[in-house]
Amino acid sequence: MKRVLTGIQSSGIPHLGNILGAIVPAIELSKKEGTESFIFIADFHSLTTIKDAPTRIKNVYAVAAAWIAFGFDTEKNFFYRQSKIPQVTELTWYLSCFTPFPMLANAHSFKDKSDKLSDVNAGLFVYPVLMAADIILYQANEVPVGKDQVQHLEITRDIAQHFNNLYGQTFVLPKAVIDENVMIIPGTDGQKMSKSYNNFIDIFLPEKELEKQIKLIVTDSKELEESKNPDTCNVFKLFSLIADNASIKTMREKYIAGGYGYGHAKKELFNTILEKYKLQREKYNYLMQNTNELEALLSIGENKAAQVAQVTLTDVRQKLGF
Ligand code: ADP
Ligand code: TRP
Repeated sequence: MKRVLTGIQSSGIPHLGNILGAIVPAIELSKKEGTESFIFIADFHSLTTIKDAPTRIKNVYAVAAAWIAFGFDTEKNFFYRQSKIPQVTELTWYLSCFTPFPMLANAHSFKDKSDKLSDVNAGLFVYPVLMAADIILYQANEVPVGKDQVQHLEITRDIAQHFNNLYGQTFVLPKAVIDENVMIIPGTDGQKMSKSYNNFIDIFLPEKELEKQIKLIVTDSKELEESKNPDTCNVFKLFSLIADNASIKTMREKYIAGGYGYGHAKKELFNTILEKYKLQREKYNYLMQNTNELEALLSIGENKAAQVAQVTLTDVRQKLGF
């Protein structure tokens, strides 16, 4: 069985970029035969930036609800909160003692974050070691990630290899999997959609608020009658990511013909989101109202994950003389 593992930080409500760029492709991958997926919510990692407990709790549920709403099969796979498997923090300590200080000091993401954030805490510095522990604790073979995480995977392999060299085969060396086909989803301002740029579309919002977000999509100021260029328009780009081919073709023709305004296009985008994600929106909202169901699914996953984690940790403890 090939083990595919990925973590998603609970730093907000998953937006359309997270869904199309990470959640949907990972769910597709998890359906493959001969594969078992470990999908977890990296809530310990989120403590590097989020300190407020109610916010964390809400985000954890939101991330969990989004995975379930999009059809992640929690029975076949492993679905858990990082913080519920405390073995990961113990392993992080062991691995820290095998991680050269300069390797962490040179990590791009630490440098970026320490330039941008006012709170440069040691958690940000140790972040890649916790991430390495997340991965090798479960002996994962493949880790689908975005390009920004590739260096973290290199660090993970280095740490695992170093440990294996000293103590004999202990950890599987994981491989980063970058799906070049996954597109960067643009936000309402045309930049990459991101929580940090506040340009995201939250497809789970109530209708009125969702419509408001869609109305904020930036366009040029062409008049209604004028012919418009679909290929440079953010509304059209987002529409193309979710609509069927025939509707995309029709909208393209309307743009070029003129007499079709951005307001019309936004309305069509809005209706398409409502239609396409009707079931997911219902399921998400149901689960956010019934978090006991999320708790039940997560705790089954957490029991399964803890067993895998314990096997690795027992081996490591023995090798280290604890
Ligand atoms: P954000 O930029 O909103 O903070 P994260 O960095 O937490 O998002 O990303 C979580 C996952 O979603 C990652 O796998 C990332 O590659 C994916 N992702 C985030 N934004 C986009 C986007 N605009 N297009 C495609 N994938 C994205
Ligand atoms: N650092 C990852 C991110 O910000 C999240 C993450 C934590 C992760 N642990 C992981 C991803 C283990 C893959 C494997 O996107």
